[in-house]
Amino acid sequence: MKERLQELQQEAIVKIESANDLKELNDVRVAYLGKKGPITEVLRGMGKLSAEERPVMGALANEVREAIASSLEAKQALLEEAEVERKLASETIDVTLPGRPVKVGNHHPLTAVIEEIEDLFLRMGYCIAEGPEVEKDYYNFEALNLPKGHPARDMQDSFYITEEILLRTHTSPVQARTMEKNQGKGPIKIICPGKVYRRDNDDATHSHQFTQIEGLVIDENIRMSDLKGTLEVFAKKMFGEEREIRLRPSFFPFTEPSVEVDVSCHKCGGHGCNVCKGTGWIEILGAGMVHPNVLEMAGYDSKKYQGFAFGMGPERIAMLKYGVDDIRHFYTNDVRFLQQFKRA
Ligand code: PHE
Repeated sequence: MKERLQELQQEAIVKIESANDLKELNDVRVAYLGKKGPITEVLRGMGKLSAEERPVMGALANEVREAIASSLEAKQALLEEAEVERKLASETIDVTLPGRPVKVGNHHPLTAVIEEIEDLFLRMGYCIAEGPEVEKDYYNFEALNLPKGHPARDMQDSFYITEEILLRTHTSPVQARTMEKNQGKGPIKIICPGKVYRRDNDDATHSHQFTQIEGLVIDENIRMSDLKGTLEVFAKKMFGEEREIRLRPSFFPFTEPSVEVDVSCHKCGGHGCNVCKGTGWIEILGAGMVHPNVLEMAGYDSKKYQGFAFGMGPERIAMLKYGVDDIRHFYTNDVRFLQQFKRA
C-alpha cells in the first residue's frame, strides 16, 4: 500500500509538470484528489490493515495528498502568470505607429472675415450691436429718412412680409434702433454685423441674402475727417499698409454728405489691372455723415451731436482679399472651396 501511494505521488507530479494550461491542470486535480480518485481508492483498503499500521498509512496518505496539492498550487501560479504574460504580449500597443489623421473643420471664410473686421473695430473701442433680420418698415426705411414712397427705396428691392414688416435690406436699421435706445443722450460707437435680404436675382455678384457690417459713431464734434481716418486704418489693416483710400461723392438718404469709398488696388498697387478693371481703385463701402433728420428722429439734438456711418459687405471684402470670383461659392458650401480658408 505504501508503494502504491508513493507511485501515485510520482505519477501525479509528472502529470502536473506536463500540464500545459489551467484546464489540463484541473483535470489532473480531479483525477488524483477527487472522490473517485486512486488515493481515495487506496484508503478504502485501510480497513484491512492492523491497528499499528493504520495511523502510519493514514499519515502517509495525507502527506501524499498534501504534496500533490502543493505542486498543483505551484503549477497553477506558474500557468496563471504565463497567461497574464501572454495577454500582455498580445495586447501591446505599438506607440511608434503613425496616427490616423482626424479631419478638422475650419471657420467659414465669411465668418473669418467678419471676425477679423470685428476684432479690428473692437480694438478701436467699438462695441458690437445686433438687431432683428425681420424688421419693421419704420427702422429699415422711415427712421433712416426714407419715408413711404421715397424713390430711393427702389435702390433696395425688398421682401415684404406685411405692409409694415420686411426682411431687412441692410444693417442700417440697427443704427436707428441703437440711437433710439440711447434716448438722445451720450456717444455711440458700434459696428453691427448681420444678414440682410434683397429681391435680387442671384448671379456671380448678387445674392438675395448676404451679409453687411454697419458702423456708427455718434458724439459731439464728429467730423468727416474722423470718418476718413477710421476708414483709412480699416483699409490698411484689411488690404495692406500701402493702401490708400479715396472718397467719391454719392447719395444715401440717411447720410449727408454721402460718399462711396474706394481702396487702391491691392493687386496692381494702383496701376490698373483686371481686379480693379484698369482703374487702380476698388469700391469697398458706402458711408457718410449721419443726416440731421436721422439724428432728430431718434431723439438726438443734431445741433449738439454729429456722427458718421458706414456699411460694407463682407462677401465683397472676402472676394477681393482672396480672389473669389463668384459670390455663390460662399453659400453652396463645397468643402473643396471652404478648406482653402484654413487658418494657419
Ligand atoms: N446701408 C447702405 C447700403 O446698404 C450702406 C451705408 C451704410 C451707407 C451707412 C452709408 C452709411 O447700401
